[in-house]
Amino acid sequence: MNIIEIKNLKVHYPIRSGFWNRITDEVPAVDGISFNIRAGETYGLVGESGSGKSTTGKSVVGLEKVTSGSILYKGKDITKKENRRRLDYNRDVQMIFQDSLSSLNPRKRIEDIIAEPLRNFEHLSKEDEKLRVLQLLDIVGLDADALYKYPHQFSGGQRQRIGVARAVATHPKLIVADEPVSALDLSVQAQVLNFMKRIQRDFGISYLFISHDLGVVRHMCQNIAIMNRGRLVEIGTRDDIYNHPLHIYTKRLLAAIPETNVDQRAAHRASRLAVEQVYQDEQATYYDHDGKAFPLVAVSPTHSVALPEKLAQQLAQAETKREAQA
Ligand SMILES: Nc1ncnc2c1ncn2[C@@H]1O[C@H](COP(=O)(O)OP(=O)(O)OP(=O)(O)O)[C@@H](O)[C@H]1O
Ligand SMILES: [Mg+2]
Repeated sequence: MNIIEIKNLKVHYPIRSGFWNRITDEVPAVDGISFNIRAGETYGLVGESGSGKSTTGKSVVGLEKVTSGSILYKGKDITKKENRRRLDYNRDVQMIFQDSLSSLNPRKRIEDIIAEPLRNFEHLSKEDEKLRVLQLLDIVGLDADALYKYPHQFSGGQRQRIGVARAVATHPKLIVADEPVSALDLSVQAQVLNFMKRIQRDFGISYLFISHDLGVVRHMCQNIAIMNRGRLVEIGTRDDIYNHPLHIYTKRLLAAIPETNVDQRAAHRASRLAVEQVYQDEQATYYDHDGKAFPLVAVSPTHSVALPEKLAQQLAQAETKREAQA
């Protein structure tokens, strides 16, 4: 069952200029994307900086005015404000941001930060509210003395836990996590990812997990969409994307994952340069005349790639052959 269905979503930002501040152009930040998130899964949305990931995430939580297309939740289009209100959407769907220092109010104590969604959506007594906040701190592994502190008194990893505690306070069905660990050290990243997984198991939450790094989403996501200049260039299961990538842009993101094994570094560098060369040489094959990605074509029930039909099938067959030989 799908919790969210995104259909041909477009978000174009106006560019204003001149004395009259008229709209003279627009940025197609999200340019016609479609994908579904199944209940209980972690869906990865991956692409370079500026590809439109945050704009997509903000549209899904209802923070962005969409230009066209629809986002269905329980069969209703939540790009319409009245549907969001009727469905209690703002309670069911929460967001975690990359930069926890700027997304947590610096003048508020942790108790008030975490209690804020409870105050908006559940009218608890003072005692019950405090109990809930303490439970939430416990879930994300912080002590009770955090209650009376301010955001700047915590490390980046701890602040990210506070952001998660606030996001899960109202028992949401879906959390959009926009680069939730990108600002953290590798060791702290693993901790935060682990308790995000635990919370998902315990509460049955779905995640839309946004990242620029295919290395980070590898152990989190069952399905992944690759975003490039406002469009999706490839959609597939974890196995499709990591073991059988078809679009050159996906291969390029895979090659950009840092190699931690010292013995493999030279080989890794060589393959990265080879992929980069193909990317430079074969732009005309992988993008249309305007440099935009083609519409997605299905090559299997789970795997789609943005290429002309014939080329997509050819590449998929070559990939199947390669695997049979390996
Ligand atoms: N409010 C805005 N007004 C105009 N253009 C915007 C606005 N917000 C984003 N953009 C543009 O839309 C495009 C997509 O931005 P977005 O923030 O969604 O990218 P992103 O994939 O999240 O990138 P990053 O990895 O750097 O966070 C970019 O070209 C950006 O400059
Ligand atoms: Mg972003």
